[in-house]
Amino acid sequence: MPKRIHTFIGLMALSLSLSACTPLLETRAAANMASPSASGQAIPASPSKPPLSSDDPASDPSIRILVNKMRSLDADYAPDDLVRVDVPTVLKNEEVNQLRKEAADALKALFAGAEIAGFKLYARSGYRSYQTQTALFAGYVKNHGEKEANRFSAKAGQSEHQTGLAMDITSDSVSLQLSEDFDDTQEGQWVREHAPEYGFIIRYPKDKEDVTGYMYEPWHLRYLGAKLATDVARSGLTYDEYVAKTENGGNPA
Ligand code: DAL
Ligand code: ZN
Repeated sequence: MPKRIHTFIGLMALSLSLSACTPLLETRAAANMASPSASGQAIPASPSKPPLSSDDPASDPSIRILVNKMRSLDADYAPDDLVRVDVPTVLKNEEVNQLRKEAADALKALFAGAEIAGFKLYARSGYRSYQTQTALFAGYVKNHGEKEANRFSAKAGQSEHQTGLAMDITSDSVSLQLSEDFDDTQEGQWVREHAPEYGFIIRYPKDKEDVTGYMYEPWHLRYLGAKLATDVARSGLTYDEYVAKTENGGNPA
């Protein structure tokens, strides 16, 4: 099992502070992507399910948006409801301490739930603009080459972080870094079990690199709203597969 530790780097050109990935072992084959669907970004509700009520987050296509190596965001896309997260954070760069309002509220509830269970969580990297992702990815390419870099970092336009709906979380037990070791910690296990109740999924699951295009990231939470996140988690599918199946009229749950 390759272990990764993400270390802190400074991107001088943009005066940013972002988390960087350093794969310690490179034993897995390069991503061999399955192709969920290539067109459009709006995700229709499954025809086999009742219509969603308008106050359900899953009824909002901008919350359900699928972003991956086949579905990119425009360079000028930025959410208009970003807020600073009201949870402990790690980095000084305030851009990455933001999420869309609804996701920020859900993150606060998740962290409060973890605290009741005895675990302290930290938010490390949330919203990243297209420009920030461009600089981040370029740094990884310099150090690892493009093919390897793209196993753990998205090209600009292909990162969920640009949606303001993804947050990388961490804890003291992994030294506030982003590490696969988070998976083995008690708090990591609690998050894995309870995140969907609060509206989040682990977006890049273990052993799914051939589908998602990315190595396992136990720290990368994607907000979908509690109903959809629970459905996706119960389905055992990646979000890419879940959307593809839903769009094909199947019932993934
Ligand atoms: N680490 C994920 C894939 C990203 O860069 O968005
Ligand atoms: Zn992430």
